[in-house]
Amino acid sequence: MIEVNKLTKIYKLSKNEMVRRKTKKNTKCAASDITFTAKPGEIYGLLGPNGAGKTTTLRCIATLLTPTEGDVKVCGFDTVTQGKEVRESICFLTNEIKLDPFFTPRYLFDFFGHLHGLSEEQIVSRRNELFTYFGIDAFEDKKIEELSTGMKQKAAIAVSLVQDPKVVVFDEPTSGLDVITAKSVTDFLGKLKEEGKTIIISTHIMSEAEKLCDKIGIIIDGKLVIEGKIQEILEKTGANDLEDAFFVLYRDNHKEEE
Ligand SMILES: Nc1ncnc2c1ncn2[C@@H]1O[C@H](COP(=O)(O)OP(=O)(O)O)[C@@H](O)[C@H]1O
Ligand SMILES: [Mg+2]
Repeated sequence: MIEVNKLTKIYKLSKNEMVRRKTKKNTKCAASDITFTAKPGEIYGLLGPNGAGKTTTLRCIATLLTPTEGDVKVCGFDTVTQGKEVRESICFLTNEIKLDPFFTPRYLFDFFGHLHGLSEEQIVSRRNELFTYFGIDAFEDKKIEELSTGMKQKAAIAVSLVQDPKVVVFDEPTSGLDVITAKSVTDFLGKLKEEGKTIIISTHIMSEAEKLCDKIGIIIDGKLVIEGKIQEILEKTGANDLEDAFFVLYRDNHKEEE
């Protein structure tokens, strides 16, 4: 279970950032009063354009950022005061954190397995399962830098899942992948859902969200402008599909920055 309660995250901007953003304000509110719950056996999709606040929200869930206001609970644990407990039950995948190019998938998998306190046996059985599923076994002793983009991402996913986490947080998991690789990733998320995991992903690909997610929250300019099952979102917006719904919401909610 992930419970996000009135989450607000405000970044301080450096002088350089203010110049780059052409703004006189020295703060940026990346997430504003966001509330939602993602439940076990459910895939929750955070949908929004670039800069909407998806990664910020996911980083707060993953204990990598401290909320400015509000709080986040993962499996009942507070991400600020019980960060250790949260990190034990969660995995976080993001494009911003890359696997070290000089190591091999097998080395990294085992390294993180040990870090999570798994036994040698547990690591080997988990590695066999995940590497076989993602077809990494043939590449497990090649350096990450020698792998294709798709294989790198699949290795990153396998490594992130080493400790069989209850809660899976994937930031744009299929971004930059070809359709076949993307499908193996989304199929795997479906499998995790069947196992009763709580899954949250961010994406800007509407069709992916429509197919994969049980519930969707659309974020625009740091605000969660709508939330619910796809059918509910279509009913509320009077749209025929998620893409249309998104455009309606964007038109009504997006403001250009001063
Ligand atoms: N460390 C930071 N300092 C200042 N602003 C940031 C920082 N990280 C993100 N932002 C800004 O916050 C907003 C939301 O970013 P982000 O959460 O990465 O959005 P998304 O993942 O939806 O593309 C953007 O305007 C981004 O430029
Ligand atoms: Mg992002």
